[in-house]
Amino acid sequence: MSQLDEILLQAQTAFAQATDSNALEQAKALFLGKSGQITELLKGLGKLDAEARRAAGAEINACKTAVEAALEARRDALRTAALEQQLAAEALDVTLPGRGAGHGGLHPVTRTQERYETLFHSIGFEVADGPEIETDWYNFTALNTPENHPARSMHDTFYLQNGENVLLRTHTSPVQIRAMQAHAKLHAGKDVMPDLRIIAPGRVYRVDSDATHSPMFHQVEGLWVGKDISFAGMKGVIIDFLQRFFETEELQVRLRPSFFPFTEPSAEIDFAFMTGPNKGRWLEISGCGMVHPNVLRFGGIDPEKYTGFAFGMGLDRLTMLRYGVNDLRQFFENDLRFLSQFSE
Ligand code: FA5
Ligand code: MG
Repeated sequence: MSQLDEILLQAQTAFAQATDSNALEQAKALFLGKSGQITELLKGLGKLDAEARRAAGAEINACKTAVEAALEARRDALRTAALEQQLAAEALDVTLPGRGAGHGGLHPVTRTQERYETLFHSIGFEVADGPEIETDWYNFTALNTPENHPARSMHDTFYLQNGENVLLRTHTSPVQIRAMQAHAKLHAGKDVMPDLRIIAPGRVYRVDSDATHSPMFHQVEGLWVGKDISFAGMKGVIIDFLQRFFETEELQVRLRPSFFPFTEPSAEIDFAFMTGPNKGRWLEISGCGMVHPNVLRFGGIDPEKYTGFAFGMGLDRLTMLRYGVNDLRQFFENDLRFLSQFSE
């Protein structure tokens, strides 16, 4: 093998062994650099005579061109490999499923409230509203519970600091007074027969916490005031509602005599769990009764002519019963693992 063939072979081997562009440039210097093998050969041409110089020069230059071509080919190969590596590293897998935003859902107590409103709307009840920060007068006095009356201690009330007369309402019953007053005001001076059918859902507050009591909970007040409104009528409306709400006629419900200053007679309604760990156990869901004549009077309605019934039902308790939940505080801990079970 001629010396030039050998140099070309060495160059091709050195280039092939270079695995990055730095190593390749170092290998290039061994052959084409200032004191590289080919550069040295070219320098030696000056010592030859003209004839021999031309022949040797042509051969060395051919070798140089071949070395340069090998170098260029290796550069290309390294560049392509680097690009491929980069593309692989930055690859985007378009077949991966997206992260997605997830579906939201209504809170189980909100679902109960919406269902409640729909069912009562279908029998002519309208939704009424009242403030959660209430005066002592609406929350107690107008509901036939004067100051110092022992029944005030039935509710553990959150009073607001600035003024003893302002509190967080302990029940939705003050909306009864507001609704009757609105009716009386609308027909001021005229004796218009009331046909007041309202429900008033909303948040109420008491200093209370255990498996069936939350310091913030939801009630729905129901009120029907008119001519010849009876206790039997109330029982019918409530039982019919419960049958439609729980989608069965096989309910275990009982009315238990009780006391409220704002109704006479009064009862509490108990309902037996149909599912869940408490199956068969009774849970109180509501208070109810015939509106006390003093309360009708506070509302501007003549108790000699008209009567009414009222009830105040616990929405959170209804939700417990519907889904067989045994601790109602879970509804307000906002643990999505619990809440997401109720969304559709
Ligand atoms: C009342 O609040 C009366 N205002 C109900 C009423 C209205 C009677 C109209 C007559 C006429 P009581 O304190 O029993 O009554 O509460 C009514 C319902 O609210 C209870 O049966 C229960 O279902 C629910 N409840 C009461 N306290 C809590 C609580 N801390 N957490 C969750 N639910 C509660
Ligand atoms: Mg009660």
